[in-house]
Amino acid sequence: MKLVTIIGARPQFIKAATVSRAIAAFDDITEVIVHTGQHYDANMSDIFFDELSIPRPDHHLGIGGGSHGAMTGRQIEAIETVLMAEKPDFVLVYGDTNSTLAGALAAVKLHIPLAHVEAGLRSFNRKMPEEINRILTDHAADLLFAPTETAVRNLKSEGLPAERQRLVGDVMYDAALFYRERAKEPKWFEGLSVQKGNYILATIHRAESTNDPACLTSILQGLAQADAPVILPMHPRTHARIREFDLEVPEAIHVVPPTGYLEMIWLEMHCAAIATDSGGVQKEAYFHGRPCITLREQTEWVELIESGWNTLVGADTGKIAAALSSLTRPEEGKPLYGTGNAAELIVKLLYEDAQ
Ligand code: UD1
Ligand code: UDP
Repeated sequence: MKLVTIIGARPQFIKAATVSRAIAAFDDITEVIVHTGQHYDANMSDIFFDELSIPRPDHHLGIGGGSHGAMTGRQIEAIETVLMAEKPDFVLVYGDTNSTLAGALAAVKLHIPLAHVEAGLRSFNRKMPEEINRILTDHAADLLFAPTETAVRNLKSEGLPAERQRLVGDVMYDAALFYRERAKEPKWFEGLSVQKGNYILATIHRAESTNDPACLTSILQGLAQADAPVILPMHPRTHARIREFDLEVPEAIHVVPPTGYLEMIWLEMHCAAIATDSGGVQKEAYFHGRPCITLREQTEWVELIESGWNTLVGADTGKIAAALSSLTRPEEGKPLYGTGNAAELIVKLLYEDAQ
């Protein structure tokens, strides 16, 4: 069996690392990796291939930056060329980025079976580019690998056939379990004079948080009011917006460059709490037992809210500050994201489907 995996953005490298490892256990599956180039800085891309032992991409398309239409359109064209040459039995796409949608559209128009990992997630906010990407990808896909029961319900409610759906758990949980033993302290941590266990770890990168200067300022002001210092590994989009809007980052916030995954896990494991607008980081807070506030109005990961591990605070300075000063750790409940074998299940199901 031949699989083409299409990835391009940071969280996709982490998700694909677990699945690629499961694929490697099969002698008769060949994986061809296509990197669209959506993320291209060394600390947004290469570092993950090096640290997580992801096979080097067989095709690097070098298409990052630009508007949504330009990026997605150029990616579709280039992926189509690769797929026509590779003739795979399945195309595998992850999550909800422009690279996901480009891969899905290229595959479905060539009548190549398409599998979507992280199917069925919805924020019900159609202004988010990710929401459009995931809805269209789910509707194009032949196999829908859903991480949660909520995701399965969402797929059903959109009329997607039950025989396409597979509840497998979350590959990011597999990654958290596998890599937590390998977590490493960032070299710069000691120099910050911040105590282990007594800092807030923050990430901000969503278009909805960063495109409006008032919104970004409000988030930064809210974080700065925390009792503990804040460590903010800054995404290049956020960096660009702060410079463009000429904003001052408050002194209580220690800005550091984006980290590799192993350092990020270490920071998550040793922080007091997490404040984020990232999908992946919300779940990692729960995986590593840290309370979390989400700097958005909605989340796709609703079970974290229901179980008390996460609180939605939007971009509201007052709500952010209040939530950071009243964090509690809920009791352990039933596991929310499977048992840590999602990647193995995905590969087994793909293999069976292709027979
Ligand atoms: C993308 C995804 C988002 C995902 C995020 C993960 C879409 C629509 N968005 O958002 O769902 O959560 O990745 O991190 O696909 N840039 C660099 N260097 C890089 C990458 C980006 O400088 O290596 C800058 C560029 O100015 C670029 C901007 O960041 O224009 C935005 O990058 P883009 O990939 O379009 O969106 P993200 O915000 O990264
Ligand atoms: N991450 C990382 N370094 C960072 C910030 C995030 O390795 O500086 C990891 C994080 O641990 C998680 C993933 O990147 O596994 C989340 O990606 P991101 O927040 O960019 O995207 P999202 O999950 O929101 O789509």
